[in-house]
Amino acid sequence: MREWMGSLGARIFLAFALLISMSLAITYFNVVKDVERFHLAHTEDSLTQKARMLRPFIRQLLEEGKDLQPWVLAMGKPSGVRITVILPGGKVAADSEHDPATMESHWSRPEVQMALKRGLGMSQRYSTTLGRKLLYAAVPVKDMEGRLLGVLRVAYPLAPVKEALHPLFRRLLLENLLLVLLALSLALLFSRYVSSQLKTVADCTQAMAQGDLTTRVPETGVRELKILARSLNSMAASLQELFKAREDERQKMNLLLSSMPDLVVVTDRKGTILFANQAFFRLFGKEEKLWRALRTPRLAELFTRVWEEKKVKEEVSTPRGTFEVTAIEMVPGKEALLLFHDVEERKRLEKMKTDFVANVSHELKTPLTVVKGYLETLEMAKSPEEREAFIKKMEKHIQRLISLVSDLLLLSSLEEGDTLYSRAPVDMEAILEKTAQWAEQASRDKGLTFSFQKRGTPRPIIGSPYLLEQLLINLLDNAIKYTPQGKVTLSVDYRGEEVSINVEDTGIGIPHDKQDRVFERFYRVDPSRSRESGGTGLGLSIVKHIVGFHQGKLMLKSREGEGTSITVTIPLES
Ligand SMILES: Nc1ncnc2c1ncn2[C@@H]1O[C@H](COP(=O)(O)OP(=O)(O)OP(=O)(O)O)[C@@H](O)[C@H]1O
Ligand SMILES: [Mg+2]
Repeated sequence: MREWMGSLGARIFLAFALLISMSLAITYFNVVKDVERFHLAHTEDSLTQKARMLRPFIRQLLEEGKDLQPWVLAMGKPSGVRITVILPGGKVAADSEHDPATMESHWSRPEVQMALKRGLGMSQRYSTTLGRKLLYAAVPVKDMEGRLLGVLRVAYPLAPVKEALHPLFRRLLLENLLLVLLALSLALLFSRYVSSQLKTVADCTQAMAQGDLTTRVPETGVRELKILARSLNSMAASLQELFKAREDERQKMNLLLSSMPDLVVVTDRKGTILFANQAFFRLFGKEEKLWRALRTPRLAELFTRVWEEKKVKEEVSTPRGTFEVTAIEMVPGKEALLLFHDVEERKRLEKMKTDFVANVSHELKTPLTVVKGYLETLEMAKSPEEREAFIKKMEKHIQRLISLVSDLLLLSSLEEGDTLYSRAPVDMEAILEKTAQWAEQASRDKGLTFSFQKRGTPRPIIGSPYLLEQLLINLLDNAIKYTPQGKVTLSVDYRGEEVSINVEDTGIGIPHDKQDRVFERFYRVDPSRSRESGGTGLGLSIVKHIVGFHQGKLMLKSREGEGTSITVTIPLES
């Protein structure tokens, strides 16, 4: 109720109620007054007429000097009025409703005075004689010569006049009240209707303001409200679209920033971190202030300059590495964006590149120089046998060049991506047989024992037969190459969803601290010994790439002086 009192509906209702009640009340009182006035005038007229009608009889009686009282009494009743005859000077000669002998002088009565002055006197007053309110009309009675014989007064009680009007007024009042009631009910209904419509609109708008943009205002009711609802709905729809677009943008931005290798930070002027991407947090942790995260005085200087120069680029060393920092004033005087680009990574890549070129050149140069040397000395060969021996040596070095170049080509094609080699079901048995045969021969040549063990039921692998053969050759080649005496074992085991291939030897082994590095390109544990055996350090890095191509795993176990075991596990076709 209290809530309703403050509503627009309540105000409309109260205004209506006031207006209707007031206008009906005014109408009612005006009608009552007018009717009363009309009725009074009518009564006055009829009284005057009666007085004028009675006057000739009174004149005659007065001229003849007869007793008026019996006549007055006889006339009073049927005419329905009180008749009084007052003699000049005020003495009451006759009265239809009172004994004239006991009545005081009536000369000073207002109606009598007025009748004397104007020929007709009217008065409305309380009769002390009769004790009730009366309407009086008085006329002077004169003889032929115009001498005053007395005053005739007729009176009529006012109460019956009013009483006669009461039923009319009562009906009028009742009808008015009914009208008021009807009008108020209509006003109440209308105000409630408008109120409830407005409340629906208000509720929906509030829901929209609180972020629920899926809300729609029902497009019903009066025309203006329908228009309002329609505009609100289209506004909500546009906002929804706008927010969605913004959210999409934000998500794209977040994805972009989080997948960026560079570090991105936004700070305020005091260095409080307002935003940072994952790369930044990963490296520097979740700090509130930039200074605490980076801990370098160089940054403070860069940070003061950015507000003057708008954009500053500088190389900054932090405990977590060296970065090329680009600071940009994002919101003038308030927010700055800092981009950290890891310089060390770039330097490392550059070094790798130059190292690679140097290594390749060196590896190529050595056999070429040797071949050139033999070519020069070939001419000086004394005998055909000696020449033959030189040619044999040249052939060996050229073969080494060829295998080096083909290793490099294989490695670069593997690094380039998967697309160069197609995947198909591979007959692993055939490849194993072929390489085992080759390894047995090579082992025998070196005086080593070779054994080949198989376990489980063979099943196909999805992969490249060429690459799988290269993998086996490289592992077996190493085992034979780095085993001066003893034995080399190749074993295959099909179990569950994978096949594991193991190559084990009783050779020189790999020192523990070098085991991680042997898979790097051109890395050799002992370069002088490898060179002697013709190794370039590419074999194991090729193996690592081939295992990766087949989504397999690689495990190395080795003890210096005791031997090495390398296991490759490759998933089977499911
Ligand atoms: N079975 C093994 N026993 C001992 N040392 C090994 C064995 N396999 C590899 N190594 C060491 O790891 C190094 C890297 O091997 P990798 O096969 O990559 O190169 P490489 O054999 O020297 O030359 P390439 O294979 O390119 O002809 C070798 O130089 C060697 O020092
Ligand atoms: Mg090798």
